[in-house]
Amino acid sequence: MTQVADETRSANSSLHPPRIHHVGILTTRHDEMVDWYRTVVGMEVTLKPDKLPGTFVSNDVAHHRMGIFQAPGLQEDTDKVAHARIQHIAFEYPNLGELLESWERIRNSGIEHVAAVDHGSSISIYYKDPDSNTIELECDAWATKEEALQYFSESEQMKENPMGRYVDPAKLLEAWRGGASLEEIHEAAMAAGYEPDVLPDPMATI
Ligand SMILES: [Fe+2]
Repeated sequence: MTQVADETRSANSSLHPPRIHHVGILTTRHDEMVDWYRTVVGMEVTLKPDKLPGTFVSNDVAHHRMGIFQAPGLQEDTDKVAHARIQHIAFEYPNLGELLESWERIRNSGIEHVAAVDHGSSISIYYKDPDSNTIELECDAWATKEEALQYFSESEQMKENPMGRYVDPAKLLEAWRGGASLEEIHEAAMAAGYEPDVLPDPMATI
C-alpha cells in the first residue's frame, strides 16, 4: 500500500474503498459502439430495456460493465480533443500473453491500434472506439502488483517519463511466442528494442 493510501485510511477508519464497477457512455452511434466493445473486449448484452434507449453489456460476472445509451437529440462533439472530458478508459489483462493474443485477434477482425507503449509499469495498447474515445488494453509489466506499484510510485523513470517507450505488438508477440519471458520483453522494450518501424503520432493516445 502506498504512503498516501496508508495515511488516508488511518485518518478515516470507516473508509471502505470501492472498485470501479461500470462506465456509462452517451453516443450517437449506439449499434456501432455495442459491436465495437463486443469485438474488442468481449462485451455481451445483458439487458436491453424496452423503455430506455440503450444497452447494458458485460464481459465478466458483473450484471453490467458498460451502459451504452443514445438519447434523442444528442449532438456529436466534433472537437473532443480540445474539450475537457474523461481522457481514457483502460481494460486490464492478467498477463502479457492474453494481451498480445487479444491484440492479434482484434487486428484480424479489422481493428487497428493507434499506439502501443511499455510505460515501465504496464504494457499498453491504445485504440480509438467509434466515438474517438481512447481505450487502453493493458497488463502489468511486472510479475506482481507489488512490484508494479513500487516501480510506478517510486522510480525516477516514471517521474521523468511516464510515457516510456513505444512498442510494436507484433514484435512483442513474436518474442513471447519465441519463449521470451515478461521480464526479458519488458527490459528489451524499455531499451527501445521493440519500437515500431514508424513511431505513432504523440497525440494518438490523447
Ligand atoms: Fe492508462
